[in-house]
Amino acid sequence: MQYKNLGGSGLRVSQLSYGAWVSFGNQIDVKEVKSLLQCCRDYGVNFFDNAEVYANGRAEEIMGQAIRELGWKRSDVVVTTKIFWGGSGPNDKGLSRKHIVEGTKASLKRLDMDYVDVIYCHRPDFMTPIEETVRAMNHVIDNGWAFYWGTSEWSAQQITEAWSVAQRLDLVGPIVEQPEYNLLSRHKVESEYLPLYSNYGLGLTTWSPLASGVLTGKYNKGVIPPESRFALENYKNLASRSLVDDVLTKVRGLTPIADELNVPLAQLAIAWCAANPNVSSVITGATKEAQIHENMKAIDLIPKLTPEVMEKIEAVVQSKPKRQDSYRPSKPLRISLRSATWRFSSPAKLGLMVPVKLFFERDKLQFQETSADPPRKGEPIKDEFRDMVGSRVAFHLDPVAGIIIIFFPSYQLRP
Ligand SMILES: NC(=O)c1ccc[n+]([C@@H]2O[C@H](COP(=O)([O-])OP(=O)(O)OC[C@H]3O[C@@H](n4cnc5c(N)ncnc54)[C@H](OP(=O)(O)O)[C@@H]3O)[C@@H](O)[C@H]2O)c1
Repeated sequence: MQYKNLGGSGLRVSQLSYGAWVSFGNQIDVKEVKSLLQCCRDYGVNFFDNAEVYANGRAEEIMGQAIRELGWKRSDVVVTTKIFWGGSGPNDKGLSRKHIVEGTKASLKRLDMDYVDVIYCHRPDFMTPIEETVRAMNHVIDNGWAFYWGTSEWSAQQITEAWSVAQRLDLVGPIVEQPEYNLLSRHKVESEYLPLYSNYGLGLTTWSPLASGVLTGKYNKGVIPPESRFALENYKNLASRSLVDDVLTKVRGLTPIADELNVPLAQLAIAWCAANPNVSSVITGATKEAQIHENMKAIDLIPKLTPEVMEKIEAVVQSKPKRQDSYRPSKPLRISLRSATWRFSSPAKLGLMVPVKLFFERDKLQFQETSADPPRKGEPIKDEFRDMVGSRVAFHLDPVAGIIIIFFPSYQLRP
């Protein structure tokens, strides 16, 4: 197992983790959960996810009891929970200070723990000012009930707002977001959140890597296996939304790619999520030990996802989101190309110097990485840069691409 820092924080989480949604309390109880948790631990999983709403609190009780009976040392594991849906009363849900404090205390009681490592706001709350939520989350941390806080399914704009409140008040901002991410659902992770990774060091713990099991291929034949999630009465709606022709055609199209790699489709789908460098941990789910054995081996597949394999996958799913324009105007940087050309260092490329081709498009200076050698000292200017000589241009850094470009005037142009 590999361990990654949770975003910009110092917390180390296993690249694959395990969560309680649907299964705990609906399909499995303490006895089965104990063996599934231990099976995950044996693979090096240290991060276990829960929520106050899962099985109306029963999932937290089961996880707490199982961990206690397994005799695990609390400091060896990262346990997280999420607050939002705590009950039916007007103050039992949402992200008011009242519900955050009462909900957190109730979760800890059910888990029978003094603290959770990360506490998430399970959804955005349009009825509560973000400042109240940020202050309440800091109160939870200051009381030692959680070490870090995060969000789940918030928009980039809401996360940015939370960070600006936190920075203004000298408080702790959300270190992590928990979005859905799998081969069929990619927009937030691959497009909307891009500026947040570099701006705030946002980490991601992503959910439903198998789209509730659809990406195992087990629903391909149009039959719902009796012991599966979609056979549960409460999940019939999700089943009818998920098992549509377009999705099943894609899943069938992925099967030969997995076959070629000699792995089950579930492994390919999980490895694909974990291969995204912005994903800190992929939260898996399982109702049987055999599923855990299958899923955890996805770790070994990650290095085998070559660009060629990724292209084949892309050709089948065709779900890559289009990069959107930034929601935040970037700072124009005035440079004069009369005096120098520029070499570019991109921290996104681990500080390597990358040659960049400059060109105008739609009256905006654009850049593009090129395989061409950057100009060396004393070399005449290359044709691709020649048009730029003498022009004064505004160079827009590209926060959407997540690339900060540092300019090194390293080369004197010849007139
Ligand atoms: N923040 C949020 O809003 C949110 C939302 C959803 C989930 N989550 C978190 O993410 C975790 C994972 O989500 P998820 O459970 O939906 O993940 P998932 O990987 O998409 O689905 C897991 C389910 O698929 C089936 N499965 C797993 N591995 C399999 C295999 N190898 N072969 C056949 N079937 C297999 C199992 O269900 P069956 O055996 O019953 O078919 C299992 O419970 C949750 O537990 C929760 O912690 C968070």
